[in-house]
Amino acid sequence: MQNSLTIALSKGRIFKETLPLLAHAGIEPAEDPETSRKLILSTNRDDVRLVIVRASDVPTYVQYGGADLGVAGKDVLMEHGGDGLYEPLDLRIACCKLMVAGPVDEPPLSGRLRIATKFVRSTRQYYAQQGQQVEIIKLYGSMELAPLVGLADRIVDVVDTGNTLRANGLEPREHIADISSRLIVNRASMKMKHEAVTDFIRCIEEAVNSHV
Ligand code: ATP
Ligand code: PRP
Repeated sequence: MQNSLTIALSKGRIFKETLPLLAHAGIEPAEDPETSRKLILSTNRDDVRLVIVRASDVPTYVQYGGADLGVAGKDVLMEHGGDGLYEPLDLRIACCKLMVAGPVDEPPLSGRLRIATKFVRSTRQYYAQQGQQVEIIKLYGSMELAPLVGLADRIVDVVDTGNTLRANGLEPREHIADISSRLIVNRASMKMKHEAVTDFIRCIEEAVNSHV
């Protein structure tokens, strides 16, 4: 439909923190994704629906038009690369930092550093900027474990309170980037559904600025 909008969100933190912003725009989901098994959620508005996808898949759904808009962490967007997307708004939610971390009692290191991470692209770019050659080991989660079992010397992961690092005998070492979640828009939707998309962006921007 010409002016209907599909918005891609991930369950958990992003969904929870986006909810008040949507409410400010007059949009309320008909169901809670934590309890429903449905992946397409209708809302109180006939012209708006939500699709629930993995956090790291949000940019892909929006890029290929599976959704007109989405909410994704800057960490995920840096990995994706941003092709086919506009990124008009920093929502200032799900704030954290992308960091290098290592063991508190780190043994002397020699040779090429081994870095375990799911953020391969950002890690490669960061160390290239530092002029340091590293070996990157791709993981999909539980990165904190890697140095504890000798899989890697250090990790690159997002850090908020630092509790996860501390609980695993690790500490932050280097700051790579400040992270927050962004509203992203499919490029074709921006043209074809211009009015609906820009109205939505305006409402969400108001919500962000009023610290909802
Ligand atoms: P996937 O399911 O695709 O592997 P994920 O499990 O990383 O993704 P979430 O944990 O819901 O998904 O994180 C979504 C986004 O929230 C991340 O991309 C990041 O920008 C941000 N984030 C992650 N961890 C934290 C945290 N501890 N505090 C604040 N923000 C965070
Ligand atoms: C994220 C991230 C870290 C943790 C950092 O995991 O992968 O492990 O948060 O937050 P902290 O500094 O406040 O401890 P999350 O809790 O989202 O679980 P996940 O690994 O399933 O994504």
